Amino acid sequence: MDLRTQTLPAGGIAAVAADALLVVLVGDKAPPDLDAALAPLLDDAVKHGDFELKPSRTLYLHRPAGAKVARLAFAAAADASPKSVKAALAAGLAALKAPGVKRLAVALAGADAVDDRHAEALALAVADAVYLYRHTKPSAPAPAALASVTLLGTKAQQPVLARGLARGEAIAAGVTLARECANRPANHLTPGALADQASALAKSHGLKAEVLERKHVEKLGMGAFLAVAQGSHEPLRFIVLRYQGAGKTDAPVVLVGKGITFDTGGISLKPAAEMDEMKFDMGGAASVLGTMRAVAQLKPKVNVVALIPACENMPGGRAVKPGDVVTSMSGQTIEILNTDAEGRLILCDALTYAARFKPQAVVDVATLTGACMIALGHHHSGLFSADDALAADLLAASAAALDPAWRMPLDAEYDEALKSNFADMANVGPRAGGAITAAKFLQRFAKDLPWAHLDIAGTAWKSGTHKGATGRPVGLLTHFVLSRAR
Ligand code: BES
Ligand code: MN
Ligand code: ZN
Repeated sequence: MDLRTQTLPAGGIAAVAADALLVVLVGDKAPPDLDAALAPLLDDAVKHGDFELKPSRTLYLHRPAGAKVARLAFAAAADASPKSVKAALAAGLAALKAPGVKRLAVALAGADAVDDRHAEALALAVADAVYLYRHTKPSAPAPAALASVTLLGTKAQQPVLARGLARGEAIAAGVTLARECANRPANHLTPGALADQASALAKSHGLKAEVLERKHVEKLGMGAFLAVAQGSHEPLRFIVLRYQGAGKTDAPVVLVGKGITFDTGGISLKPAAEMDEMKFDMGGAASVLGTMRAVAQLKPKVNVVALIPACENMPGGRAVKPGDVVTSMSGQTIEILNTDAEGRLILCDALTYAARFKPQAVVDVATLTGACMIALGHHHSGLFSADDALAADLLAASAAALDPAWRMPLDAEYDEALKSNFADMANVGPRAGGAITAAKFLQRFAKDLPWAHLDIAGTAWKSGTHKGATGRPVGLLTHFVLSRAR
């Protein structure tokens, strides 16, 4: 996709040469700054009840009188916020999905301050509009015709808009990579294949990749990770990716992604209904890979390390059993009461490993609990951290990226739930507060780290007719990394 900015032609937006023109109208009245050639078209449609200026409503006009383009769409935005404008852009792009629309021009009317955030939103909306899963679907429709999108602005706005487009383009590429990985079925995206994806990304984007196999993981003493992996015939991988944008001695941001390429639940087997969706249980890993891709493209002055423990959670003759006690890399022992609480078992060893980088921040990202989905639904990711400053930075990044997250509690009282008669801790507590006890479990392995945890069980994918990965929270994580650049 070719994304660029362009100065408005002397004749106004009606003089723009493109296959189609999308005009976002901000507010509930015809914007006073709307081009004189287009304003009568809008007025006429509104007067006759064919269009209302209500959020995300669109009006398509073919060969509109007075405009140079053959196709024109108006899309209404509630206000000039990047969030409202993004929703309008998405609706407008959907209205202009046609084989003849290869070059699209986009303009905003009624917004006094168009800035980089709107440009970023456009890049993300465009990527979302054209994304189509095809890897294992040869019968998928032809890719979208759209090849170039031009954002119109004043001359003075050009540098700011270009910056926003570049940021949005990088994040969108990361989101697309995350979606592509997470959508891939578990027989196509095994732990080995996930490691290959990481290595390929490192090669194409100048990152350092290191892939540890079982022998190495055994030597490190990652007994919890090994316990989950032992039930599968697919060999585990522990993936380390490094981006160096600052001095060698600068403390890095460490991102840890849950990479369960399929979660059957293990011996604590999950019910059959919707079990296919557990191929998305590497959504955390996918978002960390996507973030590394975005960061590698944007080249901020900060160091970033990505850690991905990857394996399958399977039942079988070798599988870990309820009641088994394992020793984690930290030395703490864990009674595995439920083999379906496997995410925390692979993450706890990765958190212990993270300490060696003396990080300025560690953020783990995981499709960790159904309980988080019950608590927050599919809109907000769950954010857990005892570090107020880190939590504030992550919430700010979440807001800037239009990638919502909500802070959840971590009070000491919830820790009681993890008591075990046979080990230092159990891997599960009672059902109530399940997302919090999962976070409390992880916290025991991040004692001396500036740590935060994102539970993305409800936000990493959609169920139903639009079943598929969302690529979240690549936006949040990328903005967070950018906020830590010098
Ligand atoms: N991968 C699941 C969490 C999950 C469930 C994500 C549904 C998205 C949708 C995780 O490994 C899991 O099975 N968690 C258990 C924990 C329980 C056994 C304490 C859960 O949430 O039921
Ligand atoms: Mn599970
Ligand atoms: Zn899982």
